[in-house]
Amino acid sequence: MKTVLTSTPFEAADFIKKGGIVAFPTETVYGLGADIFDARAIARIFTAKKRPSDNPLIAHIGSLSQVSSLVKEVTPSAEILIKEFFPGPLTLVLPKAPKVPMIATANLETVGIRMPRNKLTNEFLRECGTPVAAPSANLSGKPSPTSWQAVFEDLNGRIDCILQGEIPEIGIESTVVDCTGDTPIVLRTGGVSVEQLKEVIPDTEIYSPRDDEKPRSPGIKHKHYSPEATVILVSSGEIPATGLDGCAFIGLVQPFGAFDLVEVARSPEDYARRLFDFFRKCDRLGIRTIYCEIIERTGIGTALMDRLRKASGSQN
Ligand code: TXA
Ligand code: MG
Repeated sequence: MKTVLTSTPFEAADFIKKGGIVAFPTETVYGLGADIFDARAIARIFTAKKRPSDNPLIAHIGSLSQVSSLVKEVTPSAEILIKEFFPGPLTLVLPKAPKVPMIATANLETVGIRMPRNKLTNEFLRECGTPVAAPSANLSGKPSPTSWQAVFEDLNGRIDCILQGEIPEIGIESTVVDCTGDTPIVLRTGGVSVEQLKEVIPDTEIYSPRDDEKPRSPGIKHKHYSPEATVILVSSGEIPATGLDGCAFIGLVQPFGAFDLVEVARSPEDYARRLFDFFRKCDRLGIRTIYCEIIERTGIGTALMDRLRKASGSQN
């Protein structure tokens, strides 16, 4: 299959209207989308990404009026969060409307909805005229793509079109919040911080699966965000200074040792924005070990540390 590259949202939307699958930028990471009501097109997303079929997709909307076509009910907590954070890096899980195909939600009776705040994305979604179901546009198990080139690297020849946009402003995925019950439960930390959520709904909980429990967000159990290299987490005082052949470093401080590749971020936000692209760069250069600086778990730091822990192979 030929993958068309375009920077025109209208051209990309045309592929969606014809049952195609299209990668598009958002403020978090690039997504790989199809018309949510087209079960055949959605099946192609799972194939292209080699995604396990038990991992549900997020419905991306271009206008709030599309919410009612996707969900059975907007719960009171969802109403508050929509008002505060849509459009933005937040996905709300709600009871799904019957017409949303089960393949999109991996047989769950709920659907995740999100309204990106990127201008190009919104033009694209509005032009599609339908909610667009999309996971991140990487091969399953790889770091999420934060450039159209990263999408191309993973999916060229496997998808119909790539809408070429800018480097995403945030660089890690949206926060996923289960709003089906009385209190919202954060299933995945992300672009909207826990502190921001608690400011609007103080009793917001953070989900942590017990060993014997089926995870509520199926994606949590899958291998994620991993470069080929071994990822080792270090605090700023523990960064090794010798024996650094084939090693790379990313963090907030400048290390002393002679790493093959060093990326120093200006802030936790900058660190988050650069992480996934750095992982890919390390793989291209054949780096064997990536040292990542541990940062404080506040604001974006919580989501960043979650990604780093998973990349380092830790399950919890
Ligand atoms: O920022 C993002 O969320 C990006 C951009 C493209 O929007 N998308 C993204 O999609 O990261 P994906 O598929 O890589 O991750 C979606 C996460 C998975 O962990 C999935 O299990 C969870 O959201 N999720 C989706 N629908 C769900 C549902 N109905 N119930 C529970 N978790 C759900
Ligand atoms: Mg993903």
